[in-house]
Amino acid sequence: MQGSNLVRLRTNEKTARPGLTHKARQVGMNPNHWYPAAFSHEVKRKQVIETRFSGEDIAVFRGDDGLVQVLENRCAHRHIKLSHGSVENCNLVCLYHGWTYNRSGELVGTKHEDFGKKLPSARVRSYPTREHYGIIWFFPGDPELAAITPLVEIPKFEGSDGWASLSFAYTWAAHHSMVIDNLCNLTHLWVHGRWIVYSDTFLADHTLEGDKITLSWRHQLRRDYQYPLTRRVFGKNGGSESDTFMIYDYPYQSAVSNNRVRSNNFMLPIDDTHTKVFSLQQWKRAKIPFSEGRLLPRGVMQMVMPLLRPYVKEVFRQDGFTVEQEQVAYQRYADKPIPEPNPAVNRFNQLTVQKWNDYLEYGQTGKLTEEQMAEQMRVKHL
Ligand code: FES
Ligand SMILES: [Fe+2]
Repeated sequence: MQGSNLVRLRTNEKTARPGLTHKARQVGMNPNHWYPAAFSHEVKRKQVIETRFSGEDIAVFRGDDGLVQVLENRCAHRHIKLSHGSVENCNLVCLYHGWTYNRSGELVGTKHEDFGKKLPSARVRSYPTREHYGIIWFFPGDPELAAITPLVEIPKFEGSDGWASLSFAYTWAAHHSMVIDNLCNLTHLWVHGRWIVYSDTFLADHTLEGDKITLSWRHQLRRDYQYPLTRRVFGKNGGSESDTFMIYDYPYQSAVSNNRVRSNNFMLPIDDTHTKVFSLQQWKRAKIPFSEGRLLPRGVMQMVMPLLRPYVKEVFRQDGFTVEQEQVAYQRYADKPIPEPNPAVNRFNQLTVQKWNDYLEYGQTGKLTEEQMAEQMRVKHL
């Protein structure tokens, strides 16, 4: 299968640290899923950008016809990055000698004389590519599985009852298992101090079924000067109780607070110690006062959303600093155990390790079990 160069076990020779958390810190992400390569707006017509998946260099370009394509970011000639090149019609042209690749990654021309020879039969890897939700998705694993793997479904994104949305990405110098832990494990809310409206958060329920974990958190709203406002947005029936329902449907995460504010998070493992997250925040549209429940037009809400950006950015800065510190600490104290009081954390770690083992097994057998096949074909509704 293609991509078998991704099959490598991460081992940390310095440590003999046992335990599930440690195992989760040592594995890659299963490439047999759709991953975000870039936001649509980052790749304009005739533009090419670069990114990485698990240490592999990736080029993302958009042709004259508006269609995007993800290719291996390596010219077959001298192996320099194709992202330094340019887009010509629907092809990607290398900066150096102009070797030109079509969407399938085949060499279709050069910018130099042919020395009386046929065009070399050279190609670079072309990844199955899709575009939806303002995100360019690619499938870094076996392309045959891409054909049967549906894209993730984000509710309330489109349509007349669609919520307002705001998207942004961030890259943290941390392993993906630390990032998913930060996104799902609210025992860390302490980090955010008064930036978060909740107090007395507790985990009411958690389940693991197939590739999917659900977590149900309950909170009280902090009784401070903001309470009159926060209870209107986050309070259940305008009271002081609130909740957050989370899904980690590998490899995608979402959190919905009080059925009003939704955060969808898509990880791109850049390498063993860097993870990029494409985040799509959604807010339910507010009702127009005295209008018999009519919703504020989406365009109006959409204009208000950027006002939230500085707040969201600060909260994610707090998370980012902390998670990067965890990565530093993990490498520094390689021999120390990692005690874990939250039982749900074992579930994320179990899933992370299992999905990597599934991938290794698939690399050897080229087959999915019946159960794995059903999971592969299931639509993941966040
Ligand atoms: S290195 Fe790309 S054309 Fe020569
Ligand atoms: Fe946080």
